[in-house]
Amino acid sequence: MARKKIALIGAGAIGGTMAHLCALKGLADVVLYDVIDGLPQGKALDLLQSGPIENFDIQITGSTKYEDIAGADVCIVTAGIVRKPGMSRDDLLGTNAKILRQVSEGIKTHAPNSFVIVITNPLDAMVTLVKRVTGFPKNRVVGQSGILDSSRYRTFIAQELKASVASVSAVVLGGHGDDMVPVRSSCLLSGVPIEKFISGKRLDEIEARVRNAGGEIVSLLKTGSAFYAPASAAIRMAQSYLMDRKEILPCATYLEGEYGVNGYYFGVPVMIGAGGIEKVIEMELSPSERKAFEQSLTRVKELVQAMDKLLAAS
Ligand code: LAC
Repeated sequence: MARKKIALIGAGAIGGTMAHLCALKGLADVVLYDVIDGLPQGKALDLLQSGPIENFDIQITGSTKYEDIAGADVCIVTAGIVRKPGMSRDDLLGTNAKILRQVSEGIKTHAPNSFVIVITNPLDAMVTLVKRVTGFPKNRVVGQSGILDSSRYRTFIAQELKASVASVSAVVLGGHGDDMVPVRSSCLLSGVPIEKFISGKRLDEIEARVRNAGGEIVSLLKTGSAFYAPASAAIRMAQSYLMDRKEILPCATYLEGEYGVNGYYFGVPVMIGAGGIEKVIEMELSPSERKAFEQSLTRVKELVQAMDKLLAAS
């Protein structure tokens, strides 16, 4: 059986890390694409040369031509500019919308049957644009954010309790912005509600840190944003699709009535299998969580409107 193929559109820090993860997991052949000539080719060669040491045979190539993503089973999009300290994800809107319009055309032409995962910020607007321009069905265009945000929530809770991350389950819903919604009522330590272990006041602080976790890393790195955890999150999604694992993972998904949301991408738990987004899972929310959910949705709607205005003017 031929190996599967993953096209990574954008060979920056997340793109390179995803290629590395694909290689170490033996997940699929990789094409690293970027507009900067030499960058994808150089990273691909370096990674390929770790094959004999790590004992993998997958092929990794770098390219500046969209033709080379032909036949990709999965495309993961990180193309675009990243935040600098003091910027919000939303500040990237105008520049990245123009870049993603071109990327979407490339995917539509050369990988028309692929499952597309978008990482570029501001995520909720960018994934909306990719779906529109490609015209792909909603089960094949999804945004990576909820796994990352949930993983941050789990990390901070595990650190607080000095417990294994494996024993902490948690979900973050909503947009991938400063008003994302950590769902406290479903945060559990080995099945027991987290409020039995951590005070409400401390949980407020932890959840505030979750909402700002991307920004915390930007202000430390100064010249870039997080890349290890975002890369892991997207590869987990690709893996569930390619292996038909049917994992339930929080992702930015196009909703048509679920959670009372119609016609917008929003972060909710979904099942990812060979059919792409196979199911949306509806969680129970407390009244305060529902309120935060609505607030985050308003923000996402404003963001999409702002994008439409910018694109209409350009
Ligand atoms: C973050 C970026 C990748 O949350 O959105 O770190």
